[in-house]
Amino acid sequence: MSYQHLLVTQEPDTKIAIVQLNRPQALNALNFDLMNELLSAFRAFAKDDSVNAVVLTGNDKAFAAGADIKEMATATSAEMLTKGYLELWDELHTFKKPIVAAVSGFCLGGGAELAMVCDMIVASETAKFGQPEINIGVIPGAGGTQRLTRAVGKVKAMELILTGRQFTAEEALSMGLINKIAPVDSYLAEAKKLATEIASKPPIAVRLAKEAVLRAASTNLNEDVEFERRLFALLFATDDMREGMTAFIEKRKPVWKGK
Ligand code: CAA
Repeated sequence: MSYQHLLVTQEPDTKIAIVQLNRPQALNALNFDLMNELLSAFRAFAKDDSVNAVVLTGNDKAFAAGADIKEMATATSAEMLTKGYLELWDELHTFKKPIVAAVSGFCLGGGAELAMVCDMIVASETAKFGQPEINIGVIPGAGGTQRLTRAVGKVKAMELILTGRQFTAEEALSMGLINKIAPVDSYLAEAKKLATEIASKPPIAVRLAKEAVLRAASTNLNEDVEFERRLFALLFATDDMREGMTAFIEKRKPVWKGK
């Protein structure tokens, strides 16, 4: 299958597939079409016995700089609640085979949320993580408030989500958010190595082990992500959201009114 915003490859003798997000002109911002393509690719892997594990990556400059702000800037609360854009992410969460994210450069907002939906994260030394949604008048809407908090604990998640600041791969490693850091010229190879090792194990045991580990980290996760999604949609009724996203597009500082 060929895609507009993804490059999908399989390496012989490894039983892994590699998916590369491919919208470099927008720092791999995750628009509706890209997310739909991503789901199509994962639906195909789910049925493909030659794929035991998947590596999800971007390019050296950006894993993904978040959901596509230009696509969302004019959306209403009602549209965010009914159009199903963020529900697409839930299906990815139900994928049964292990996913290793290979992250370099910007891994922000929805990009960080996508990396956290993956099961393990290998990052390059240049990776920059963050949940900067607060700076455009919203909050993480694809599970970030829930998955980041479960991964790093309340006080750290609170600081990161309320300030929106970027943080390095070193800081991510020290918080337990990622598995490993590698130089920029080898992070992808390291991620493939990890995925290849896992892909060589008995696939049914791997699948059930993933299910069991996710269970430990996922008590009430689905309901909590749904709660976050509704708050995210609610913010699309505020002037501050409109101002925040417009200011990003116009490359200026937003002026908050608290309305
Ligand atoms: N959506 C749409 N376009 C984006 C984008 C995004 N999230 N991030 C970057 N781009 C576009 C820019 O608009 C720019 O396009 P033009 O060339 O047409 O102007 C291009 O990518 C390159 O970006 P910059 O010129 O801004 O590059 P930079 O190196 O100066 O800055 C950056 C890089 C710090 C990542 C900056 O682009 C940025 O702050 N991006 C937005 C990050 C963000 O707020 N992400 C959260 C989005 S909301 C979200 O994800 C909600 C959710 O939880 C689901």
